[in-house]
Amino acid sequence: MKIIKKISSLDQLKSFALDLSKCLEGKEIILLKGDLAAGKTTFTRFLVSAIDPESEDQVSSPTFSVMNEYETSRFPVYHIDLYRVKDFDFSDVLGHGLIVVEWADKITNLGNYPVVFIDIDIVDENERIFKVETKNADYLEECLK
Ligand SMILES: Nc1ncnc2c1ncn2[C@@H]1O[C@H](COP(=O)(O)OP(=O)(O)O)[C@@H](O)[C@H]1O
Ligand SMILES: [Mg+2]
Repeated sequence: MKIIKKISSLDQLKSFALDLSKCLEGKEIILLKGDLAAGKTTFTRFLVSAIDPESEDQVSSPTFSVMNEYETSRFPVYHIDLYRVKDFDFSDVLGHGLIVVEWADKITNLGNYPVVFIDIDIVDENERIFKVETKNADYLEECLK
């Protein structure tokens, strides 16, 4: 499945994250592509708050830490930033929680886990185009309309 969404404000981004959060089971891999300031970290922050409102303010960019782990009431979230990383071994986290990857351009082999590819284009200061594709994840479709 492939959808294209125009996101014209942070409020729209928040409601997109909320919609998606409702279908997540905690084993998906969300691969975020997009230039600096596209909104990868902001989307992740909204998504984690949508999964568990109590977990707000946990999310910060893992640029230096490479991986941050967040506790939520539903499942752990592994937030990974591959900007400075050539190879990352996903085997410790695959299947143990939701995985969200920034600068995901380099990833190929993730087995049969459900994957959401999100490619963000910057239109202007407040507007983004989100191109969303899924693999092994038909159950997410109703939350991505
Ligand atoms: N519609 C939008 N979607 C995403 N970010 C937006 C939007 N409008 C403005 N922004 C701003 O763009 C910046 C995105 O930064 P960030 O999430 O750190 O990007 P990245 O992680 O992709 O480098 C934030 O300052 C955010 O407030
Ligand atoms: Mg970022």
